[in-house]
Amino acid sequence: MDKLITLDHVSKHFNVGKHQTLVAVNDVSLDIYRGETLGVVGESGCGKSTLGRTVMGIYHPTKGKIIYEGKEVNVKHTKDRFAYARKAQIIFQDPYASLNPRMTVGSIISEGMEIHNMYDKAKRQERVYELLETVGLNREHANRFPHEFSGGQRQRIGIARALAIEPEFIVCDEPISALDVSIQSQIINLLKKLQEENGFTYMFIAHDLNIVKYISDRIAVMYLGNLVELADSDEIYHHTLHPYSQALLSSVPIPDPDKEAQKQAKVLTGDVPSPINPKPGCPFANRCEHCMDICRKETPTLKEIRPHHFAACHLDLK
Ligand SMILES: Nc1ncnc2c1ncn2[C@@H]1O[C@H](COP(=O)(O)OP(=O)(O)O)[C@@H](O)[C@H]1O
Ligand SMILES: [Mg+2]
Repeated sequence: MDKLITLDHVSKHFNVGKHQTLVAVNDVSLDIYRGETLGVVGESGCGKSTLGRTVMGIYHPTKGKIIYEGKEVNVKHTKDRFAYARKAQIIFQDPYASLNPRMTVGSIISEGMEIHNMYDKAKRQERVYELLETVGLNREHANRFPHEFSGGQRQRIGIARALAIEPEFIVCDEPISALDVSIQSQIINLLKKLQEENGFTYMFIAHDLNIVKYISDRIAVMYLGNLVELADSDEIYHHTLHPYSQALLSSVPIPDPDKEAQKQAKVLTGDVPSPINPKPGCPFANRCEHCMDICRKETPTLKEIRPHHFAACHLDLK
């Protein structure tokens, strides 16, 4: 398969006070293949958005590298950052907060094209109309303002804005979490259709495992800034290896009531440790029912346990 992006030991730290470092993303290495959807799941605060923003060049990694089509993305250099910004786009969770309320929908969608000097004014206008239709709105909407639209429609505007500069890679950061359940599947279906038509590569961030399973080819599970498991969607659902992923999956209801009754829920006990000045050892050690001595001393690295199925755990998981 064709690698589009490689994350090579990527960490992102934030300084949050004197001698206090918040490790939002810790030493994540993985490849993203062209045309795939990589789902990223984990509890709130585990670093999903920070990872997404680092991959798409909003943040410069504190350690490690992002490699896009064989070349390191250096977001410290404005020129490189600018070139990369055309290839990578992001769709945000909150379509209310991410659209400028004082701009018309048309100018919101065409702004990126102007910044990147794409097309002349008349052609940009034409593109705005086309994009509105592509996302299921219509050309009359171009002169209206964001507050005149429903949540689902605003997310469609956010998608049109991302598409306007013809990206290859799109980070979808919980794009449906703020929407009514009835609207969620419409947006998911739109994203899937756009991917089929344009060959987009997605990083799809969510905490809802059901949605991630439906849309993702592979799934990455994060815990406290660390990548703890990575595998194809079906594989990870049928052969969940990491104790944290098992706990996360067992909290998803199974549609079959008999199976649901048989399911032994693994309830997570204990608190997520603070990401500030984290202790050595496995990040999940204090909540893991299988915790051994080594888990408190050495941070496990990601190993291939089954074909194309990776987990970071000291247990003998096979
Ligand atoms: N700009 C920032 N400055 C300081 N801390 C941040 C910043 N952004 C995120 N964090 C912290 O980094 C951790 C990961 O956050 P985030 O990536 O938003 O997680 P998620 O998207 O999984 O909920 C959290 O502890 C959060 O408080
Ligand atoms: Mg987030």
